Amino acid sequence: MIKVLFVCLGNICRSPMAEFVFKDMVKKQGLENEFYIESAATSSEEIGNAMHYGTINQLNQKQIPYGDKKARRLTKEDYAKFDYILGMEDRNIHNINRMIGRDFENKVHRLLDFSENPRDIADPWYTGNFDVTYQDILEGCNTFLEFIKGEKYE
Ligand code: 4NP
Repeated sequence: MIKVLFVCLGNICRSPMAEFVFKDMVKKQGLENEFYIESAATSSEEIGNAMHYGTINQLNQKQIPYGDKKARRLTKEDYAKFDYILGMEDRNIHNINRMIGRDFENKVHRLLDFSENPRDIADPWYTGNFDVTYQDILEGCNTFLEFIKGEKYE
């Protein structure tokens, strides 16, 4: 079982979108029993809140199922629990490292560092553009899954 935690600032826009896009992706490939997938926030701002309607709209448009997700904060214990802790942008990585202590096991990565064009995923809370967020997250999840398959079966 590979345990993956997606992390963003608020856990209402990008990381829950990544959680449900990735859950759907692995399910469609018959790999859902190989993964445990969650998402969390670095900030306490939105804890307990539902996903942003911009994220819900994208998931509905793409017919990606989602549950009753409520924002939760990253904890120090998550570092031991998860194999991959995937942030959306450099600022997340900085905050994750501050919260967990040192990344001795090299678990913390930026999601789009698995793509051929490593970059941040901009915060749609500020940009308002959830289409771009979805495309970036889809690319990140696809390339991360290909990386995992390569690790497992090479
Ligand atoms: P997210 O977006 O990190 O993609 O969930 C944000 C959500 C809330 C806030 C900032 C970013 N906020 O400042 O409350």
